[in-house]
Amino acid sequence: MIKSVNSEQHRKVVVVGAGSVGATYCYALAQTGLADEIVLIDRNQELVNGQVLDLVHGQPFFPTVNIRSGSSEDYSDAQLVVITAGTSQRPGETRLQLLRKNAEIVGGIAEEIAFAKCKGVMLVVSNPVDVLTYVALKRSGWERNRVIGSGTVLDSARFRHLLSNHCGIDVHNVHAYILGEHGDSEFAVWSMTNVAGINIDEYCPVCGNCSDWNEKRQLIVQQVRDSAYHIINSKGSTNFAVGLALVKITASILRRQNSVLTVSAMLRGEFGINDVCLSVPCVVTDKGVARIITSPLTPEELDSLTRSALILRQAIDSLSVDV
Ligand SMILES: NC(=O)c1ccc[n+]([C@@H]2O[C@H](COP(=O)([O-])OP(=O)(O)OC[C@H]3O[C@@H](n4cnc5c(N)ncnc54)[C@H](O)[C@@H]3O)[C@@H](O)[C@H]2O)c1
Repeated sequence: MIKSVNSEQHRKVVVVGAGSVGATYCYALAQTGLADEIVLIDRNQELVNGQVLDLVHGQPFFPTVNIRSGSSEDYSDAQLVVITAGTSQRPGETRLQLLRKNAEIVGGIAEEIAFAKCKGVMLVVSNPVDVLTYVALKRSGWERNRVIGSGTVLDSARFRHLLSNHCGIDVHNVHAYILGEHGDSEFAVWSMTNVAGINIDEYCPVCGNCSDWNEKRQLIVQQVRDSAYHIINSKGSTNFAVGLALVKITASILRRQNSVLTVSAMLRGEFGINDVCLSVPCVVTDKGVARIITSPLTPEELDSLTRSALILRQAIDSLSVDV
């Protein structure tokens, strides 16, 4: 076992919630060599013990990394705390009741992280992620750049995958973003979608592979929106792609990569929206969101973003979070 070293160079990631998403993220993160130490916390100690034991048996195959179970004492020197803790909907429970329960869980964890005087970044993953990012921000009392949600990083990946398949082009040459709520009101930003540097509207006539592009467009966006429902219906939860999306966000934080990612961030007037967390293109670095890119959206796209913000505002108001 490698001893924990308390230094600037020591990259420590604490993961709260050792369920399907938390454990898969740990597994993916361990393989990258990005973190020196990964600490897993869950209110179910049996589960943490099992997950940690299973993970450490992989150590001969990972780059060197210390993986262990921990407690709230681990927050103070963490560069990144990832919150995947939550509870799922019980029979007869309404979405609002579930939202209140998860807000209490995530809000309580955010308070503990702030109490520990952690200097790192808080990354919320638990759903509904935009509302819970807002709750974590308010309950922690932190600066807005340091509390972010995984937002539509996963949805943007799904979008790129579907476009890549449709166009028959390597996904790495497809740049495309889903913005707004991580949920039903999310939308595709076609004006920022490009294939090999060519805007999709100009690329299509060059490609000429499909005749009914407008219809296909709508189908692709619907498929992105419905992805989680399909996966949950088939296997109960989503974990692999979200785990990798979290690794991408982690890399940008721990390595100060300045990656442009559609994380959920608190807006203060950007795009004419105030006091709501939702996904917009953000430059992500070791301080969290270094900059929000206020890209020029079309009037329709701006309407969609505003609609998402209104829906999220209503959800926040239903919680009556203390500001
Ligand atoms: N944002 C995204 O893109 C995205 C994608 C997939 C899943 N999710 C969300 O991530 C969350 C986790 O999903 P999952 O499939 O891993 O769920 P899960 O039920 O497998 O795991 C949740 C874990 O949280 C733990 N927990 C609950 N309250 C806790 C507390 N107060 N302190 C510590 N641990 C606590 C539970 O014991 C459980 O092990 C869910 O809210 C899910 O909707 C988000």
